[in-house]
Amino acid sequence: MSTSVLLTGGAGYIGSHTLLALHATGLKPVVLDDFSNSQPEVLRRLEELTGAPVAFEQGSVFDSDLVARMVDRHQIGAVIHFAGFKAVGESVADPLKYYRNNVGGLTSLLATLQGTACRSLVFSSSATVYGDPASVPITEDFPRQHTNPYGHTKLVGEDVLAAVAASDASWRFGVLRYFNPVGAHPSGRIGESPNGIPNNLMPFVSQVAVGRRPFLQVFGDDYPTPDGTGVRDYIHVCDLAEGHVAAVRHLLAGNPGFTVNLGTGKGSSVLDMVKSFEAASGKPVPYRIAPRRPGDVAECYADPASALALLGWQARLTLDDMCRDSWRWQEANPHGYGG
Ligand code: WQD
Repeated sequence: MSTSVLLTGGAGYIGSHTLLALHATGLKPVVLDDFSNSQPEVLRRLEELTGAPVAFEQGSVFDSDLVARMVDRHQIGAVIHFAGFKAVGESVADPLKYYRNNVGGLTSLLATLQGTACRSLVFSSSATVYGDPASVPITEDFPRQHTNPYGHTKLVGEDVLAAVAASDASWRFGVLRYFNPVGAHPSGRIGESPNGIPNNLMPFVSQVAVGRRPFLQVFGDDYPTPDGTGVRDYIHVCDLAEGHVAAVRHLLAGNPGFTVNLGTGKGSSVLDMVKSFEAASGKPVPYRIAPRRPGDVAECYADPASALALLGWQARLTLDDMCRDSWRWQEANPHGYGG
């Protein structure tokens, strides 16, 4: 079985970190990206970090001829499907953009692969499919519910994979439910580079610390949590990348498909994050309490036992590691990849 792995959206935040992890274990990453939510500069930095050219084609998963040519030319053994939009607020404002790109992109990719010998795919899913959980920690058998179009595209994507696998046993899918990916590669050369005002906590906190934003709005301090602010399972993007390597190796070894949570199993509050980031950066992160953000849940963190039992994977890095590595990236790249 070939050890070449196609990364759709491989120039993105998770994809670029996964490329480094794959390269380090001898698997050959091949990137397909249309730069709709990433930048060519990422590929240059990946080549700097690996010391090797990155096999890459610019294009969309909707371009069936291109995808089929890449699978054939590189003898792709498995695909990791990162390509997708992921901003919750934007998905509420423009649902069609999300259903077309996230669901349509997955079905187009699968239809193309159907004409090839490649039947193994790892899918970027999200803890958002759990909606507002009845309790924490969350196991994979918890009920799924969506609270926004973005989360719905992930839930529907999982259902598409289940139906395709049920129709043809040659398909094997690894579904990875990410909790809250944060942090950056310790080199400080790649990291999260959101367009415009960050929706997510860590990039916003980073931009306050580096002086791009005056203060953080804390969306609610009246939740039923230890300090009243929202609790999440933040996972270092490098741990998440290792989870993808373990998942794709599991499929390449001929094992059946699976669904696992990728989280640390530990909840941290907004104020925990602020304190950890101030310690890591030595910079103040001023904040103001603001009203709750619609759609937010109080607590969401994983029970990651299945990923350890099935894939032999578990997160190793702490919130302090995440903040330290985020700060190194942000301090060295105050405007992300935007120069
Ligand atoms: C975390 C906590 C906020 C910003 C979302 C998606 C999820 C995944 C990760 C794609 C919450 C609080 C945030 C701010 C704040 N994305 N917060 N001030 O909402 O848990 O998850 O991003 O896969 O699918 O749903 O992450 O970082 O937006 O928020 O107080 O300026 O930080 O209320 O408690 P979230 P987040």
